[in-house]
Amino acid sequence: MADHAMTAGLRQVAWVTGASRGIGYALACALAEDGWVVAASARNAAELDVLAAECAAFLGEVRPYPLDITDAEAAAAIVPIIEAEVGDIALAILNAGTHEPVDGRALSVGPFRRLMETNYMGSVNCLVPVAERCVARGAGRIAIVSSLAGYRGLPTASAYGASKAALINMCEALRPELEAAGVVLSVITPGFVRTPLTDRNPFPMPFLIDADVAALRILRGVAGNRFEITCPRRFAFLMKLVRILPYELFFLLTRRVRPTRADDN
Ligand SMILES: NC(=O)c1ccc[n+]([C@@H]2O[C@H](COP(=O)([O-])OP(=O)(O)OC[C@H]3O[C@@H](n4cnc5c(N)ncnc54)[C@H](OP(=O)(O)O)[C@@H]3O)[C@@H](O)[C@H]2O)c1
Repeated sequence: MADHAMTAGLRQVAWVTGASRGIGYALACALAEDGWVVAASARNAAELDVLAAECAAFLGEVRPYPLDITDAEAAAAIVPIIEAEVGDIALAILNAGTHEPVDGRALSVGPFRRLMETNYMGSVNCLVPVAERCVARGAGRIAIVSSLAGYRGLPTASAYGASKAALINMCEALRPELEAAGVVLSVITPGFVRTPLTDRNPFPMPFLIDADVAALRILRGVAGNRFEITCPRRFAFLMKLVRILPYELFFLLTRRVRPTRADDN
């Protein structure tokens, strides 16, 4: 990050959720390398231990804090524990999330409920306790990982896109209010990033980028206090154009992309 964590001798603390693999893993490594002490959360404690050991050997300090973000009480409890053991959280990147494709011809409640519970409510469960402490201190940065799929309703992404659109809307509403309290809130909207999540996609992914590239762009945006942090830029630009298309043109495009049984996993 541009504002290096070791500036003025400070060991600043970053909390990253979903840090056991993919984008969160790359974010944790990049932050540790930059001098941050990283509190890393995900459900799989063994994977967090591997991350911490790898960073200790080559990059910097990562401490595991296993957490299921769908458990609001556990999320509320872990924030004071991190702050007592490591220090005040100066940056929280609420990245944990998942995806399930939905075939509109065979709808069921499950994926909609699960994705809202994890992607939307899971982020809210973490946001509330960390925002409370940041507001009390009048300082801190919080960045929430949404997706370019939150811009418009895309084929097979009716459950995923809705959960990510909800995050964008929530962050738009909260940014000025938190800003007035001295806290910077950002929303991160990646396109396709090569991770275990996208490795299972059976379709071509335009403008696919590696997770370490995404992590560096995200951290640059966070350091610049940007509201919306997108990557890769070319895909984000195209999706911004798609966002302003009138429905007639938009549906002409999306009718061409139909779900196949291969999308079901
Ligand atoms: N990859 C992309 O192309 C892309 C594009 C746009 C947005 N995103 C978003 O970026 C974020 C990271 O995606 P990714 O591709 O890196 O996914 P990933 O490789 O599947 O990693 C997801 C991470 O989230 C954690 N996680 C999942 N459910 C959790 C829960 N209930 N509680 C705590 N941690 C949980 C996972 O660890 P455990 O399983 O151990 O809990 C893992 O560390 C997600 O929010 C995703 O929607 C990804």
